[in-house]
Amino acid sequence: MEAIVSLAKRRGFVFQSSEIYGGLNGFFDYGPMGVELKKNIRDCWWNDMVRRREDIVGIETSIIMHPKVWEASGHVAGFSDPLVDCKVSKNRYRADQLFFAPVVIDGNTVGYVSALESDKTTEELQAAAELMKRKKAIQGTLAPVVVKDFTEAKPEEISQIPSPATGNPDLTPPRAFNMMFQTNVGAMTDASSVAYLRPETAQGMFVDFKNVVDTGRVKLPFGIAQTGKSFRNEITPRNFIFRSREFEQMEMEFFIHEDDDWAKWHRYWINWCKDWLLSIGLPESHISEYDHLKEKLAFYSKGTTDIMFKFPFGVQELWGIAARGNYDLTQHANASGKPQEIFDEATKKKFVPHVIEPAVGLDRIFLAVLASCYAEEQVTDDKGNTETRTVLRLSPRIAPVKVAVLPLLKNKEQLVARAQALYKKIKRKYPAFYDEAGAVGRRYRRQDEIGTPWCVTIDFDTIEKEGDTFTLRERDSMAQKRITETELFALLEEQVY
Ligand code: GAP
Repeated sequence: MEAIVSLAKRRGFVFQSSEIYGGLNGFFDYGPMGVELKKNIRDCWWNDMVRRREDIVGIETSIIMHPKVWEASGHVAGFSDPLVDCKVSKNRYRADQLFFAPVVIDGNTVGYVSALESDKTTEELQAAAELMKRKKAIQGTLAPVVVKDFTEAKPEEISQIPSPATGNPDLTPPRAFNMMFQTNVGAMTDASSVAYLRPETAQGMFVDFKNVVDTGRVKLPFGIAQTGKSFRNEITPRNFIFRSREFEQMEMEFFIHEDDDWAKWHRYWINWCKDWLLSIGLPESHISEYDHLKEKLAFYSKGTTDIMFKFPFGVQELWGIAARGNYDLTQHANASGKPQEIFDEATKKKFVPHVIEPAVGLDRIFLAVLASCYAEEQVTDDKGNTETRTVLRLSPRIAPVKVAVLPLLKNKEQLVARAQALYKKIKRKYPAFYDEAGAVGRRYRRQDEIGTPWCVTIDFDTIEKEGDTFTLRERDSMAQKRITETELFALLEEQVY
């Protein structure tokens, strides 16, 4: 992660928000390269999800919506995480990310150990238990630790579990902490003007359902999609942009007939999402599925599957695909008094459609891309010198720069003129970069670090030999070959879509 965060800063992908003031925890800025990469991922999703399909339409709804939306959706009452305070250090923890275990020797509990969630929580707790046994000099056999999270702690245990910050039992019982950011609309700042920054984009699709049906010429099954910022006052934002307080979502609500086979559609969308991740270059080996346990699902949910991704800090949720029944539309119909139904020509009956919801975070995909495309490798140059090459193996679909155009020498007018002409022509259609500073090898390395799939070098063969060819250097293999302008554009046309 350290190498990725460092590259992200060095090459202008991601900066800490308000860095000159010390930063603001859970907020990030995207730099010149980052904003392009992010836009490319968003555009790929939009093209594949909306424009290239006939059954999905897009919308863009406001970030601040009527507060009743969030009452009907259940967010005002229930969009909370269990929060635990350390009374001494003032640190705050999410109870479900704080783990503990009783230290049991010869069947007797002699104390408790705690650790924050990580890849090695169990090992850490076992080591802490062994340390406690040694420190207290207790004879006997230490049982393997049985790990629970703090939401499962009984009151008598809470008074004994040590705070990770102080090592003493300074923790409060968990309490619900609503994660919606509040604001006030208009000049009054009383209860009547309270509104929320949306914690998800999905509600926009439900609230505008009737508008889209009445104006969009859509027929079941069909979907409504949008991308946009969401805000959650996360208790523990962490792992760089993985869990932040302001982030962008890409969500789609796919409405189906109440009698349709929801499980078939659910599977269809899980597969679609996985295929799409591969299409933007994520490795299949890092992708897995996790089915939420039936007994932990909300009462209206028929099933939720998360597409998991192997991040450097562990396997974590990337994309959730939920079968939500007709819960959301029914809630809004009841709260607004406006029916959210569709007329079935076959049965001549009205019904509320059911929905399958693939919901993903754009920033999370961005991180998955950076983490899995980042590589450091040893390369040997023509003179036999070995050096470390840092390379981002980004798919041409999402790479911020598609081609770098390099004149071999910057003081040869003919080379520069030909390079400039090619650069300007490419730039009309594709993001390109012109670089004439330094040795060609160094220029290649700079492009490797930002993930540019191809460099074309305008050399003496270009201007002296027949055919107007350039050297095309491929990022991953570093292989070079000669190519014409027509062939270059054909390559771009095929690979950048
Ligand atoms: N409408 C359903 C919904 O919002 P969610 O699982 O809470 O479901 C969907 O969020 C996706 O949004 C997650 O799978 C994740 O990719 C992304 N996401 C959620 N919270 C996030 C956060 N704090 N920072 C970055 N991405 C987040």
